[in-house]
Amino acid sequence: MTLDPRERLIVALDVASVDEAQALVARLGASVGFYKIDQLGFAAGGLAFGRTLVDAGNQVFIDMKLHDIGNTVERGVESIARLGATFLTVHAYPQTMHAAVEARAGSKLRLLAVTVLTSYDDADLAAAGYDFTVPELVAERAAQARDIGIDGLVCSAEEAIRLRSVIRPSMVLVTPGIRPAGAAAGDQKRVMTPAAAIRAGADYLVIGRPIVAAADPKAAAEAIVADIAAAHHN
Ligand code: C5P
Repeated sequence: MTLDPRERLIVALDVASVDEAQALVARLGASVGFYKIDQLGFAAGGLAFGRTLVDAGNQVFIDMKLHDIGNTVERGVESIARLGATFLTVHAYPQTMHAAVEARAGSKLRLLAVTVLTSYDDADLAAAGYDFTVPELVAERAAQARDIGIDGLVCSAEEAIRLRSVIRPSMVLVTPGIRPAGAAAGDQKRVMTPAAAIRAGADYLVIGRPIVAAADPKAAAEAIVADIAAAHHN
């Protein structure tokens, strides 16, 4: 996929209020053009803010992780499509994915499936009643997402290497857990640098704290874009 390095960076707007999000977006200026809004942001008026970001020419990723009865999923997907979002997450259950694919028809919205939450290990899956290991369930759900017509997956950089061979070439891999060399990992257990993640097959990187909590967020974002660009040159 030919994307400008800057277009591959998605900044997670993990802040406490719309005011803070607005201030951060203003500081980042033209260095960033793609933002992710999550659960906390929705409660704080983040969806309306998402619309203003779209109106200002940005791309928006709504990380809603939808999973409900088909009719409710359809209504949710339709409203996010109307907002003009580029990406929306759904859990990778076949019924949910089918409903979502049907509901986004005719819009520019692209659906990303969450296969298995990264906080889950094999014991968590067993406790939830699954007879699969995490890698088995990730592979199974990735194949289902591919067959149902989902546009991409959220996955770790390590999973990206394996999943490339499972998915359609047109599907995108969107990867959190990114840390520039020397940055604090925080609660992320497995991290990769931006360049390493791109080389591993990620198309888009979702990055929060290394930018949001930086003393100079714009400089941090520019350094990450430079690292992404470097991945294409060697
Ligand atoms: O601050 P940090 O760069 O770790 O933020 C990563 C972002 O990606 C957060 O918004 C987090 O919720 C999200 N995410 C994640 N791991 C997943 C899915 C989403 O870190 N498996």
